[in-house]
Amino acid sequence: MRIGVLTGGGDCPGLNAVLRAVTKSLIGTCSAEVIGIEDGFQGLIDGRMRVLDWRAVSGILATGGTILGTSNRANPLGSAETLEAALRHAREWRLDGIVAIGGDGTMAIAGGLEPHGLKIVGVPKTIDNDIEGCDRSFGFDTAVAIVTEALERVQTTGQSHGRVMIVETMGRYAGWIALEAGIAGAADVILLPEIDYDVDAVAAVCREREQRQRYTVICIAEGAKPRSGEMTIERRLTDSPDPVRLGGVAHVLRAQLQPHLKSEVRATVLGHVQRGGAPTPFDRVLATRFGNEAAHLVQRGEFGRMVTLAGAELGSVPLADVAGRNRRVPAGHPLLTCARQIGVSLGER
Ligand code: F6P
Repeated sequence: MRIGVLTGGGDCPGLNAVLRAVTKSLIGTCSAEVIGIEDGFQGLIDGRMRVLDWRAVSGILATGGTILGTSNRANPLGSAETLEAALRHAREWRLDGIVAIGGDGTMAIAGGLEPHGLKIVGVPKTIDNDIEGCDRSFGFDTAVAIVTEALERVQTTGQSHGRVMIVETMGRYAGWIALEAGIAGAADVILLPEIDYDVDAVAAVCREREQRQRYTVICIAEGAKPRSGEMTIERRLTDSPDPVRLGGVAHVLRAQLQPHLKSEVRATVLGHVQRGGAPTPFDRVLATRFGNEAAHLVQRGEFGRMVTLAGAELGSVPLADVAGRNRRVPAGHPLLTCARQIGVSLGER
């Protein structure tokens, strides 16, 4: 059996741990040949692939990024030519199936390739933790740890200067990172894409803290927006299936708050710092379990499915159930209630 493996979409701590586990499991349990496809679906379109043996995936468990490279612009379904090229290269490399590690965009492409005869198993990947059908994706724990440390660091400098410190996290449509890190890092205000914030309500919290504590720490997800306002889009690409680039809402909020406050308001955008570097031990284990489970699905011939985690249990769902959908923080989530009850403002009036 020959199985291709690729990493698609934005990178994420733990990708190499998945590649290592998929490869070792497939070689170890069914003597499969594993072929690494370079730069996500772009490598399938271009025919850029290489053999992954035991040695090629040794020593990469704790490393950041992906040894295969990734791409979030490539889509074999984009034109008849790219589709024909991808199918031809899969035939030429005699791939019996592909393990595609990626987010909702990658799963949508994987599902779309199925009717064309490509057999694909999906592995969910995103630091945003927003893939439908999966309680926890690897990379999320690492991102939460990085944001938590950042919040703690801005807190001490904010306290020294008597400032309002805003930290912007990733989280395009779902605020899981801001919510969990905000609680772990003792933020005073947490603003999520799921709850439009009221500028006056946030300013009132800061003013009240000006009297008592001198400083305020605000954790805001990049996809958050003010009531009756828009998401802050940094730019739009013209040649990508995923064209929107967010970033900068912390600066927007800074400008909205400053006129209401005596203390200086400062903004920090964490950006890709949250996605780079080594995965936490939790993410290394989760990524290893996901890779191992993907190999089980391949062995059982259960293609067209994505690995999932429900509670502590691994499982799988059809790719079609996942494609193009986001798992957002639901209105009644216990962490939202908990935050409100311990005095954290969610920017509500
Ligand atoms: O989807 C994960 C994510 O981390 C989003 O939170 C963020 O908007 C996006 O990736 C950034 O991706 P890129 O590096 O391609 O701009």
